[in-house]
Amino acid sequence: MTELEIKIKEQFLSKYDSEPILINSPGRVNLIGDHTDYNDGFVLPAAIDKVIVLGIASNKLGKIRAFSADMNESVVLDLNDLHKSDKHWANYIKGVVAELQKEKFKLKGFDVVFGGNIPIGAGLSSSAALEGALTVGLNKLFKLKIDRKKMARIGQLTEHKHVGVKCGIMDQFINLHGEPEKALKLDCRTLDYDLYPFHQEDNKIVLCNSKVSHNLAESEYNVRRSQCEKGVKILKKYDPEIQNLRDVSMELLMEHQGELGPVVFKRCKFVLEENKRVHNACEDLSKDDLSSFGQRMFESHEGLSNDYEVSCEELDILVELAKDQPGLLGCRMMGGGFGGCTINLVENDQVKPFTEYISKAYKERTGIEAEIYITRINGGARIIE
Ligand code: GLA
Repeated sequence: MTELEIKIKEQFLSKYDSEPILINSPGRVNLIGDHTDYNDGFVLPAAIDKVIVLGIASNKLGKIRAFSADMNESVVLDLNDLHKSDKHWANYIKGVVAELQKEKFKLKGFDVVFGGNIPIGAGLSSSAALEGALTVGLNKLFKLKIDRKKMARIGQLTEHKHVGVKCGIMDQFINLHGEPEKALKLDCRTLDYDLYPFHQEDNKIVLCNSKVSHNLAESEYNVRRSQCEKGVKILKKYDPEIQNLRDVSMELLMEHQGELGPVVFKRCKFVLEENKRVHNACEDLSKDDLSSFGQRMFESHEGLSNDYEVSCEELDILVELAKDQPGLLGCRMMGGGFGGCTINLVENDQVKPFTEYISKAYKERTGIEAEIYITRINGGARIIE
């Protein structure tokens, strides 16, 4: 058992005095393909070695007692009368439970303790890790027989209905389906996926946390989503088969550029291009061509920053600083945007000078101490036997 697993187990035993089931649930990176998931497109995420550990056991109280070890906060929720909590983290628990109940899964009272090392607000999907951990735990505890695709949907619905973020399925899906040393190409329409070996003998995934999290993130995310929907609504007039941006060709898009208007046009154009980049990047992986892969990461950043406009000054600075460093294969902002991390693919022998340079130069440019994480690709949420 890891130190974290031991700590959570001990905290559970001292608080609730029963033997918990323990779940290890990862954060994620997205190698390429951002803002494509809610457009029925393609993404290429991987689960990482930053995790939440959650302990869970049943109680006979008909209530949920939950403790966040990192926040040192407790809540008690009534299973039959779930209310929005003033503690943000508790709403993920409430949401998962409410969505399972809506699906007619029978739950009884339970206790839960969780904590971990996924930095919050860094865009590494700590919330999907909590949703996944809890669903896996409840599934085991109450023998619910939920398949993992369904579990991912429960997490997504939790975000939509109980947190207010109209997210796609990527974060929840990779949390539950990730495999060590593999990137997962997900078709967000059918939820079919392919695993691609991601060889890391010669390179590392280096995450540079800008340490900013602009509060635009949630509202602008939902705005982007509706801009894409607006594009679909217009283009559907010309081809009724179109359900989502996934079904739109570049030719059709260009033809109706005027009617779409400049903003909706560039949002849609980005999504079409980003989907194509995911396909091409997967071909690069099949050929083990990380240098071509890296170029696509740069292109993705350009698109996210200029056309989709979800980057911010700090992320652009991190990319600009990284770009000319020796050993850098590719980099880009990652995830929803407006803060969080950049993802950098760096050759092994340059990792140390790279991280030293970025820390120093970012501090000089912005006054902010970046946090840097060197991550490994790991497996999805699992029960610790
Ligand atoms: C957030 C959302 C995901 C996805 C990314 C952008 O992480 O939760 O569903 O849309 O942003 O790719």
